[in-house]
Amino acid sequence: MLPSRDEIAAAVTAGTAAVSHGGEAETRCPLKQTLPEPTRDAIGLFPSIARNYERWAAILSMGQDAYWRREMVARLPAPRGGAVLDIAAGTGLITRELQRRGHQVVALDLNPEMLAGAIASRASAVQGVGQTLPFADGSFEGATFGYLLRYVPDPLETLREVARVVRPGGVVGMVEFGRPRGIAGPLWVLYTRLVLPASGLIAGLGWTRVGRFLGPNIDAFHRRHPEAALVTMWEAAGFEAVRVARRSLGGGLLMWGRRR
Ligand SMILES: C[S@@+](CC[C@H](N)C(=O)[O-])C[C@H]1O[C@@H](n2cnc3c(N)ncnc32)[C@H](O)[C@@H]1O
Repeated sequence: MLPSRDEIAAAVTAGTAAVSHGGEAETRCPLKQTLPEPTRDAIGLFPSIARNYERWAAILSMGQDAYWRREMVARLPAPRGGAVLDIAAGTGLITRELQRRGHQVVALDLNPEMLAGAIASRASAVQGVGQTLPFADGSFEGATFGYLLRYVPDPLETLREVARVVRPGGVVGMVEFGRPRGIAGPLWVLYTRLVLPASGLIAGLGWTRVGRFLGPNIDAFHRRHPEAALVTMWEAAGFEAVRVARRSLGGGLLMWGRRR
């Protein structure tokens, strides 16, 4: 069962979320003033690219990101019809994969501009932050998040918060950029430092900002949290049977875990 409209509305009233159910009424809340720095980065970056996010995310990942999302969802053993929370849902690309597999989805994102796509797919959409989720303990059969952990001040605390809203035995899946190694390493540097920033010349100014930001941000994240440390972090947050898969020469990182 999805959290009810009343439960989500209570979070809105408490000032921790705004909600839209299947494209119906939407409310806003003053989340922005109180956000920590990495989350403020996401406010600076995403609203201006919301309109053409899906097209350019596909072009700039050379079509790979769709495979990463599809595989993450395909290998997420949540029961069909079960409620799944998609955190940092953006325009709803993971949300729609989940819906195609018969899950009932609540899509949560910081930026309402990005959430418009998820609302169009008639998912329940909630404006909120991944680090303080406006849901009761064990509300969901599963949760997913794509490209969230680089935008929270403390990834371990956020993973604990994700674990809190998933029932014991429930499943969680993640998509994130990886950091290619070996001979793919220099290609990655070339691509992220030259090609990505230059993409803005065609895709628009918003993508110049994103293109300049992404390479150094992804590298810094993986220096702080190498793959083995991420597994340990998931375990410390309350997950077991943690699995990792690197895809597309290491440019994509998928993870899954089961809530203890
Ligand atoms: C790169 S987009 C990914 C969207 C979607 N998951 C996908 O796979 O296409 C990152 C999204 O994370 C959202 N976001 C960033 N930090 C967040 C936070 N702390 N809480 C909730 N959403 C956040 C942004 O607004 C943006 O929509």
